[in-house]
Amino acid sequence: MGQTSPAPMMVEVARAEGSFFYSPENKRYFDLVAGVSVSNVGHGNREVVEAVQKQAADYMHVMVYGEMVERPQVEYARRIAELLPGDLDCVYFVNSGAEAVEVALKLAKRHTGRTELISMRRAYHGSTHGAMSMMGTPEGEEWKAEFRPLLPDVKSINFNSFEDLEQITERTAGVLCEVVQGEAGVRLPNPEWLKALRERCTEVGAMLIFDEIQTGMGRTGAMFASAKYGIEPDIVCLAKAFGGGMPLGGVASKKQILDDFTHNPCLGHITTFGGHPVCCAAGLAALNYLINNNIVEQVERKGAMFEERVSKHSKVLEIRRSGLLLAVELGKSEYLYRLMEIFKEVGIMSDWFLYCDTAFRISPPLTISEAEIEECCTLIHEALDRL
Ligand SMILES: Cc1ncc(COP(=O)(O)O)c(C=O)c1O
Repeated sequence: MGQTSPAPMMVEVARAEGSFFYSPENKRYFDLVAGVSVSNVGHGNREVVEAVQKQAADYMHVMVYGEMVERPQVEYARRIAELLPGDLDCVYFVNSGAEAVEVALKLAKRHTGRTELISMRRAYHGSTHGAMSMMGTPEGEEWKAEFRPLLPDVKSINFNSFEDLEQITERTAGVLCEVVQGEAGVRLPNPEWLKALRERCTEVGAMLIFDEIQTGMGRTGAMFASAKYGIEPDIVCLAKAFGGGMPLGGVASKKQILDDFTHNPCLGHITTFGGHPVCCAAGLAALNYLINNNIVEQVERKGAMFEERVSKHSKVLEIRRSGLLLAVELGKSEYLYRLMEIFKEVGIMSDWFLYCDTAFRISPPLTISEAEIEECCTLIHEALDRL
């Protein structure tokens, strides 16, 4: 099996349930990664499993996405459009986060007739050529250099910089921005800056594209982080928890804008497996689970519990948090590497961030119980004591 990680975690998974996964020897691990913000409804969620089983039995892949009427797609798109802010009334399904970003960039170019694309420094949007082009320099340069040439006419500006908004002009097709920067180590937006970003894009006719791939589906304490900040983007990219544990991505915009892909040229984006009916059935079941069990409403309280308990340890310098997405800053990467080993011993699975290896991640399934949080925080303290 090919791998790109030089230091894989190498824990074999035999089964996963709720907030935990288990090794073949039945060792239990608290899952503080949740597949990088994927398993929001908990591992082995009954309702999701049943939806997958039912849809797999009814039909799986039948035709390239968009040609047939497939109920799981239609119903899921309708529900998501109802929940998204503003008049984003249409969802185009793809396979992954990176593919959603590719579609969003193409749509911004197609709709505006412009070519310049702008991203934020320390952004992560995926690993395909287009998405990788949007990794903001200078941090992204280390990851991009060997793969150049990438997309032309791309530049990056500083997240939260009012001054840099001037660089968004009448030449700009789209501005791609995570609402909360995840892989930069959980960097929160200044709400006033987000508002100014929206205004600047409107002023110059550039499309504002929010990457809600990591922040969507309840992670930050609202179904979508854009709604939490009251900002309406022109395009939203979704993936990760959007598929309820199955591979699924989506691009939401106004139907009138997405319809640009139907002409000049037609088939502006083609995807064989995008919107796979089993993945859409899983995503829809996960969404219904979040709503019917008021899971999103509990996120802020649970995140605050982690923050309050973990911040008490003297080795913790700072916690950056949005809902149940936390970066626990220790200030030294040597600490992190050692801590990951100790975590494994005590039964915790965590990780650091792509651009921040001095902080560890707490992003468990949103269904984690308060008793589990207490127990997990005790284990985190024990591990930090051993550093
Ligand atoms: C904010 C953000 N955008 C895009 C992606 C890429 O998603 P995928 O790995 O599904 O291509 C990620 C993955 O970590 C992400 O965190």
